[in-house]
Amino acid sequence: MDKPDPADFGILDGISEVIATTRSDSSIPNAAPIGIIRNHDRLCVQLFPGSHTRQNAARTEKIVANIIHDPVMYVECTFGDPGPEAFEYPDEMNYPVLKRASAWILFECSQSKDNMFELTPMRGVIRDKPLLCINRGKNAVIEALVHATRYRLNGDARYLDLIGHYDRIVQRCGGSAEKEAIARLKEIMEVR
Ligand SMILES: Cc1cc2nc3c(=O)[nH]c(=O)nc-3n(C[C@H](O)[C@H](O)[C@H](O)COP(=O)(O)O)c2cc1C
Repeated sequence: MDKPDPADFGILDGISEVIATTRSDSSIPNAAPIGIIRNHDRLCVQLFPGSHTRQNAARTEKIVANIIHDPVMYVECTFGDPGPEAFEYPDEMNYPVLKRASAWILFECSQSKDNMFELTPMRGVIRDKPLLCINRGKNAVIEALVHATRYRLNGDARYLDLIGHYDRIVQRCGGSAEKEAIARLKEIMEVR
């Protein structure tokens, strides 16, 4: 089978946000938003200590990039994990992918130094190719989420202002999925 070309999956130079799926030694699936960093032919991820994704990727030396556009999934996977029904295990791969992903690529990954893990594409599937216009509301959900993860780390109130800013963009430019996602994000942050 030919190795997949990440460009066919929309993974171009710069940082592409995906939901990474991995599994633990005892086969518990995990999902979390992660940025795939591409610089010409070099592909890598920076995985900060403390996440299940990093632990699983280090142990299994595999990671799946799920290309998915559902903003609610991004929120759910940042603060927790979807239930087992959200995952499937294509063919004999024995590695989880998200059922609802538009496309996925399985990478072999090896830690190079510090938090960097180099990625080699092994196999991939494109299920559908949505022609998506840029939607500022969708992008704003992702920005708000990044600030929410930073807020969770250090509690700096500056991040709450930034989340408020992106919330206003979601309300103006987003659709119902984006509005549901930001409402969920705010709900989770109030609880914690
Ligand atoms: C858009 C977005 C991109 C992220 N990119 C990364 C990343 O590249 N590396 C990383 O270690 N964490 C990243 N995070 C944070 C993780 O998703 C977050 O820490 C998550 O809770 C880890 O979950 P896990 O413990 O299930 O792996 C990102 C979060 C968001 C919202």
